[in-house]
Amino acid sequence: MFTAKKRLLTGLQPSGALHIGNYFGALKPFLDIYEDFDSFLMIADYHALTTLRDPELLRKNTIDIVRDYLAVGIDPEKVVVWRQSDNQDHTELGWILNCMVTVPFLMQAHSYKDKVAKGIEPNAGLFTYPILQAADIALYNADVVPVGEDQRQHLEYSREAVGKFNRAYGEILKPAAEMILAGVGVVPGTDGQKMSKSYGNTIPLFGTTKEIEKAVMSIVTDSTGDRPENVYAIHRLLKSAEELEPIYEANKGRYGDLKKILVSDLEEFIAPMRERRASITDDEVAEVLTAGVRKAKEVSSVTLDRVRKAIGID
Ligand code: ADP
Ligand code: TRP
Repeated sequence: MFTAKKRLLTGLQPSGALHIGNYFGALKPFLDIYEDFDSFLMIADYHALTTLRDPELLRKNTIDIVRDYLAVGIDPEKVVVWRQSDNQDHTELGWILNCMVTVPFLMQAHSYKDKVAKGIEPNAGLFTYPILQAADIALYNADVVPVGEDQRQHLEYSREAVGKFNRAYGEILKPAAEMILAGVGVVPGTDGQKMSKSYGNTIPLFGTTKEIEKAVMSIVTDSTGDRPENVYAIHRLLKSAEELEPIYEANKGRYGDLKKILVSDLEEFIAPMRERRASITDDEVAEVLTAGVRKAKEVSSVTLDRVRKAIGID
């Protein structure tokens, strides 16, 4: 019997070098499931524009994130990879959906409120950010959207925007469900806090041997107890508790040696991806994005045509 795969779509902000927290929290869970779906992976460069005003950096980050995903093993034959700004259907449906939702509704969004609370002067793009995201999803009739916990509310906003549209014009857009990926939980950084590029406590996913060494040697360890917990927590991402048990037993209290073992295990894990990444050219990335937007547009243009007819702009 033929059963169509469900459609999966997610978006990534191109926001700079990835760390192993991103890998185990987001990339790996995506890699594990994307082939079971009809998958779409979008680089959200218009979303990045809400916070990034450096054209060279935006261009570079966009290319880099495609390269990163290819290097960790994404197969562009099995998932449509494209850049949001290459398909203007996103901004068009985004505008239309903006006309469906109210200002007080958008004012309640966490992502907006958090930025305001931090004293960041919000631009209007940041304010309507969840609605552009709703358009990204609705254009492709996505069933599920794998995201981190922080995006849960954006998915609620997407459904609300789609619901408002459908109540006004008929059942045209499909509401999508979030799929909160069960990653490994929060990966700690070298200081024991959540690993995050904004805290400067990362182990870079494509780091050189020297960079890995430097990061691992800087892992904060307390002087009590036999086991350096911050070292162990990162080690556990690579090896099972059973595998680590004899290693930590044999090196009890020798934090420096345990760190060296972690460096070599990280190197073994990172080196093949780092090498693959170095072999991917800008041209290859461009080819992936060109083929991707062609496929993306085939789907989104059908949805947008229906929307335009429904609203009387055709
Ligand atoms: P950062 O905190 O470094 O800025 P992002 O916010 O860009 O990372 O996160 C990108 C993705 O990686 C998200 O899906 C997020 O849940 C995941 N992620 C980031 N840091 C961690 C971490 N320390 N542990 C697990 N997952 C993480
Ligand atoms: N807002 C998402 C994030 O910061 C990125 C994103 C843009 C997205 N469009 C999307 C995620 C559509 C899922 C679906 O992570």
